[in-house]
Amino acid sequence: PEAKLWGGRFAESTDALVERFNASVAFDQRLAEQDIRGSLAHVAMLGAQGILKGEEVAQISQGLTEIREDIRAGKFEWRIDREDVHMNVEAALRDRIGPVAGKLHTARSRNDQVAVDFRLFTLEAALDLAGLTRQLRRVLVAEAQKALDAEVILPGYTHLQVAQPILLAHWFMAYAEMLRRDEGRLRDAAARMDECPLGSSALAGTPWPVDRHAVAGALGFSRPTANSLDGVGSRDFALEFLGACAILAAHLSRMSEELILYSSFEFGFITLPDSHTTGSSIMPQKKNPDVCELARGKTGRVFGHLLGLLTVVKGTPLAYNKDLQEDKEGVFDTYDTLQAVLRLYADMLPRTVWHADTTEAAAARGYSTATDLADWLAQRGVPFREAHEVVGSLVGLAARSGRQLWELSGPELSAAHPLLTAEVAQGLTVRQSVRSRQSYGGTAPERVAEAIAAAQAELEG
Ligand code: ARG
Repeated sequence: PEAKLWGGRFAESTDALVERFNASVAFDQRLAEQDIRGSLAHVAMLGAQGILKGEEVAQISQGLTEIREDIRAGKFEWRIDREDVHMNVEAALRDRIGPVAGKLHTARSRNDQVAVDFRLFTLEAALDLAGLTRQLRRVLVAEAQKALDAEVILPGYTHLQVAQPILLAHWFMAYAEMLRRDEGRLRDAAARMDECPLGSSALAGTPWPVDRHAVAGALGFSRPTANSLDGVGSRDFALEFLGACAILAAHLSRMSEELILYSSFEFGFITLPDSHTTGSSIMPQKKNPDVCELARGKTGRVFGHLLGLLTVVKGTPLAYNKDLQEDKEGVFDTYDTLQAVLRLYADMLPRTVWHADTTEAAAARGYSTATDLADWLAQRGVPFREAHEVVGSLVGLAARSGRQLWELSGPELSAAHPLLTAEVAQGLTVRQSVRSRQSYGGTAPERVAEAIAAAQAELEG
């Protein structure tokens, strides 16, 4: 077998099982672009600082660029005996340009190399997901506008029991708000990870006269990390990314759950598009909300990756430990999962049909305007608690006789409270209820229109 890049002190070769267990190239080859970008910036700095000769810098840079082309073209041979992406690239460089390749690793360690590669990746992933989240926000706001124009009514639930009627537009805007914060969390995380660990070297810094600020700038970072132990030993940037993603996934999962319920025969509120549903191999009538279910189900792995990395990090003494090699797969998978879900939802929601007659009828059931009746009494001087009691007794009466509040007779109503008449009860429409909720942030059409306008202004800005 080929000698290891670190083989100097070793007399025996690595056990075959250890080689497999230790290697990360199967997954960290995904960092090849970042790895080569980092190496190019590093070697340019070594040249500028007079640590390497101009000619050496040129040879190494040329070799790295060619390797990058091979990788992009799928022509690069990834070797497990070369362990990880860093040593695969470096060994390939030596194969290509000879011993001068060995100078690339001057004033550098794989510890700061992997830290910079992974930060670059995670930073790009955070910004990409923030952009896709923003895209989905645009879709939600556009759907809200459509639903507002049609004044589509939806039952609002607490405990999944009909509570009060709301506008469908208000429901869309609730998710738009959650995703606004999710986007913010991803951007905040990106801003905090905007520090370059390269030059931390193994853990203690380096005696070479490196220019860490120049390398940081060349790689697009705002500044270098301020402590070399922290630079190579910390992964909270990845934890923060996973945390922001976990919350985003939780929000998308809640929406998925609602869409699954609403698409059921029993609710009948929506029809999901054929393009985003699947059939059954045995039951010809079935149209299953697989995309929504997978979006909900994959939330499990996203949460798992957060807890997984928290657990990896918690017991590691400073600075680098091989445990930290376990940081990558969860981040990759989280990124891939959310990228897919965000795109799928941006396509699916505009093609989902809402059945306004059904949602409005459902909103009227379940005594959803009982609070309006209590408010009506309270506005006429009846203490709210007493009004609550009176209306509660009427709901009980109506429920026992299978009627709605507006189907109670004048005498039944006035027996409960002298102010009540059949006319009052009949005025309790869901539309009236929705229109009355004028408080800031409420579901009245004027308030929702303002919320949509504010969101549009922010999204255009
Ligand atoms: N493959 C390693 C990782 O992903 C790279 C860093 C290795 N450093 C070391 N001292 N063994 O963490």
